[in-house]
Amino acid sequence: MKNTFANFAFEHFEIAAYRSLLIMAELAGGTSGPRLLQQSLGEEIRMAKWIEDNLEAATRKYVQRTAAGEKAGI
Ligand SMILES: [Fe+2]
Repeated sequence: MKNTFANFAFEHFEIAAYRSLLIMAELAGGTSGPRLLQQSLGEEIRMAKWIEDNLEAATRKYVQRTAAGEKAGI
């Protein structure tokens, strides 16, 4: 679960970084950079959404396995 929390936080770190890089690219007048940065930003947003969408299921599975005495390897 801690890895999930860290991954969720890191995806948002990356989203913030790509948004800042897009602003820097705009200010620098670059032409090819923004498209690639936008593509990477989209990937990070989709990954953050995936984690968000799966957090409840992962938490429920973690609790279920822990309650059953299983090692929680989520
Ligand atoms: Fe990422």
